[in-house]
Amino acid sequence: MGNTISSDLLAQASVRMSMLMGLHFPKDRQADLERILCEAAPAFGFTDVVSFVEWLISFQLQKGHIERLADYFTVGETYFFREKASFDVLKEHVLPPIIRSKATNGRRLRIWCAGCCTGEEAYSIAILLTRIIADWKDWNISILATDINVNSLKKALSGKYTEWSFRNAPPWLKESYFEKKENGYYKILPSINQMVTFEQLNLAVDVYPSPFNSIYAMDMIFCRNVLMYFSPECAKKAVNGFYQTLTDNGLLIVSLTETIKLSGSSFVPIHFHGTTFYQKSPKGRIAEEGAKGKQVGGEIKVVRNTGENNFHALQLSTVDRATSGLRDTFYRDLTKSFEGKRYGTKVQRTPYEDALLLFEQGRYAEGEEIISGWTEHELNNPKALTLLARICANQGKLDDAEMWCEKAIIADKCCTVNYYLLATIVMEKDLIEEAVSLLKRALYLDPHFALVNFVLANILMRRGKHKAAKKYLDNAFNFISARNADEVVPESEGITVGRLMEIIAVMKRT
Ligand SMILES: C[S@@+](CC[C@H](N)C(=O)[O-])C[C@H]1O[C@@H](n2cnc3c(N)ncnc32)[C@H](O)[C@@H]1O
Repeated sequence: MGNTISSDLLAQASVRMSMLMGLHFPKDRQADLERILCEAAPAFGFTDVVSFVEWLISFQLQKGHIERLADYFTVGETYFFREKASFDVLKEHVLPPIIRSKATNGRRLRIWCAGCCTGEEAYSIAILLTRIIADWKDWNISILATDINVNSLKKALSGKYTEWSFRNAPPWLKESYFEKKENGYYKILPSINQMVTFEQLNLAVDVYPSPFNSIYAMDMIFCRNVLMYFSPECAKKAVNGFYQTLTDNGLLIVSLTETIKLSGSSFVPIHFHGTTFYQKSPKGRIAEEGAKGKQVGGEIKVVRNTGENNFHALQLSTVDRATSGLRDTFYRDLTKSFEGKRYGTKVQRTPYEDALLLFEQGRYAEGEEIISGWTEHELNNPKALTLLARICANQGKLDDAEMWCEKAIIADKCCTVNYYLLATIVMEKDLIEEAVSLLKRALYLDPHFALVNFVLANILMRRGKHKAAKKYLDNAFNFISARNADEVVPESEGITVGRLMEIIAVMKRT
């Protein structure tokens, strides 16, 4: 590898890596960046590192390229029960009250392990849950583990580990939850393996929350030893996405060294015995923000009914669409239907618009509370009812979400979005036949609805009906292919056309 990379080219490569994967290479890590680039160049067919970097910064990279880059750029360090103090706090203080409350309230628990690497962290969480929930088999526990690195995910799925993964693990772990194999490997028990779903997700570019990938209404998000590698902008975007993905009072768990990445966020730090977790706590924020906001500049004054005949004025900043999931089509339409009354230059929002803003900021419970101030007109408006369904779905209140969505369908039988939304809600409840029938009704009304074709294809694939699935995949592909790659797929809450086309291409190969 003859050439040396100029500092200007290196700086451009650094910006590119931040865009592609969120990774940050500040000045003191430029030597690392250079080393990794030199290592990666041959894997992309380059004998000359400068040509590789020029290609990297100018070429429109595909998903496959980014997956290969991830092998070189990501740090795959992990082990079972890493940062044991956090697991102790979870076991002793955090999980017991959550489990007590959920035991009489649906027995559902949704956990996302973001940046799961080879799976040790996600399996540690699963094992911990089986140890503290006696009847865990009767619960609906969903542990979604995602990573950008496909090879790490393959290893995670196989559940095979060497001694190295147990380097700080408690002694009972291997004996109780693994089978020792002849070649020195330990294989995780199938019952634990089946508790975790592994999916590929790039935290820097993919969209969350989103019903598209089932990333919403999480009770807990573990994202440990990931944000430390992210640029400040990408870390901020991820933290904002986590905030919106959690249910109210949900927890974000980062590593001890990453707490700085949370400064300035809406999360409330909760300290337990030397460990800090971050809570999405509307109550905490209300206290923090104070009650006497004024309407200034671009800011919007929202009057919130606390239910005690006691009104608090909160300050909401205008929504940062770049970080709020780009749910543009849906919101543009909604906002049009409820134009606020305008007095001079000041904007007086309707309760519906307040709910919409709160929803966009991930403040779902507050959005739901505002409904008590809705007018008859709002409660009969199908778009308002759709918003309510989304607010409930994002809090994991599936029965309420279903009820509001059904009302929205009754109010407007021709609105395809509601059939799609209801299908995603009933899918969460494992009512797949019902979901299929709703999706088919949506297609009857609008055969060109790309996302509905895509979701139907997914269901059929999972059932092994590859031929029928292919037809729907082709439809989805054809209906979006004429669009610009950067455009957001209608009703997808932010998935770009380019990204969906890549996913479809991968599915067609399998
Ligand atoms: C050091 S490991 C942390 C594993 C585990 N969370 C733990 O604490 O032990 C960091 C993981 O973050 C993943 N990662 C890095 N950038 C990512 C991105 N943009 N999207 C998703 N995962 C990413 C890497 O592939 C790697 O598996």
